[in-house]
Amino acid sequence: MTHKRIAVVTGARQGIGLETSKALLSSGHFVVMVDRQQFDGAALVGADHAANILTHTLDVTDDNGIASLHQTINATLGKVSVLVNNAGISPKQADGRSSGILQLDPKEWAKVIEVNLTAVMRMCQTFIPDMQALKYGRIVSISSLAGRSKSVVAGPSYMASKAGVLGLTRAIAAEMGPFGITANCVAPGRILTEMALQAGEEVNRRYAEQIPVKRIGTPEEVGQAVAFLCAESSGFINGATIDINGGFFMS
Ligand SMILES: NC(=O)c1ccc[n+]([C@@H]2O[C@H](COP(=O)([O-])OP(=O)(O)OC[C@H]3O[C@@H](n4cnc5c(N)ncnc54)[C@H](O)[C@@H]3O)[C@@H](O)[C@H]2O)c1
Repeated sequence: MTHKRIAVVTGARQGIGLETSKALLSSGHFVVMVDRQQFDGAALVGADHAANILTHTLDVTDDNGIASLHQTINATLGKVSVLVNNAGISPKQADGRSSGILQLDPKEWAKVIEVNLTAVMRMCQTFIPDMQALKYGRIVSISSLAGRSKSVVAGPSYMASKAGVLGLTRAIAAEMGPFGITANCVAPGRILTEMALQAGEEVNRRYAEQIPVKRIGTPEEVGQAVAFLCAESSGFINGATIDINGGFFMS
C-alpha cells in the first residue's frame, strides 16, 4: 500500500462512529467523518490524527448530499475503499422504551427504515463503484443484537431495520466479492453511548445483570471490531456478522 486507504464513517461525531474513526486512524486510514450535526473532528480525534481526517456535515437520508460528499472526496482525496455505515436512530418513548407494534406510528417506522436501512443502501450504491475501480473494498455496517434476536429495549421499526441491514450486507457480499470487496456487519448488544443512555440508568443496570460479563460494552470495543473487519488481512471474512454483546446472545 503506497498511500492511505480512504475510509468514510457515518455518524462519526460521537459514540461508536467516533471510536471507529479513531481505530481506523490508528490502523493507518484517512477518515472522512460524516455526521448530520456539525462537530470539530480534529478536537475529537486529537492532534496525532487531525491531519488525517476530513469532517463533513450530511444527513445520510439526503441523496443529493451523498452525491456531493462523493464528489468532494473524489476531487480532493481520491477513491474510497472503506465504508462504515454507522449512523442510526432508535426512537424511545418517555419511559425509555420503544413503541410496541400496536402503538407504532407509521411515520416513526418510515423514518427509522429510511435512516437505518435505506441510507445504508444508498451509501453502498454511491461508494461501491470507487471500490470496484480499486478492485478493493471493505464495507462494515452496524447492525444490532436487535436485528439478530429479540430486544430488551428496541421496538419493531428498529428491529426490522437492523435485520434488514444483515440481509442487505449478505446481498452485497455475494455480488461484490468478485471485485475484492467484502461486506460484513457487527451486531452490538448494549453499548454505553448516548443512544443507550436514552433508555435510562435503571434499564441499563438491569440489562447488565443479565449479561454473562456483568457489564454493558464500550464504543471502543465495537470500534476495534469494525477496524478488524476493515483490515486488508480480513479479506476472507465476507457476509459475516460479529456479535459484540458480552455473551448475552450466542449463536
Ligand atoms: N449504543 C448501543 O447500545 C447500540 C447497540 C447496537 C447497535 N447500535 C448502533 O450503532 C450505531 C451507532 O450508535 P451509537 O450508540 O454510537 O449512537 P449515538 O446516538 O451515540 O450516535 C449516533 C450518531 O449518528 C448521527 N446520526 C444519526 N442520524 C443521522 C443521519 N440521518 N445522518 C447522519 N448522521 C446521523 C448522530 O448525530 C450521532 O452523532 C447505530 O447504528 C446504532 O443503531 C448501538
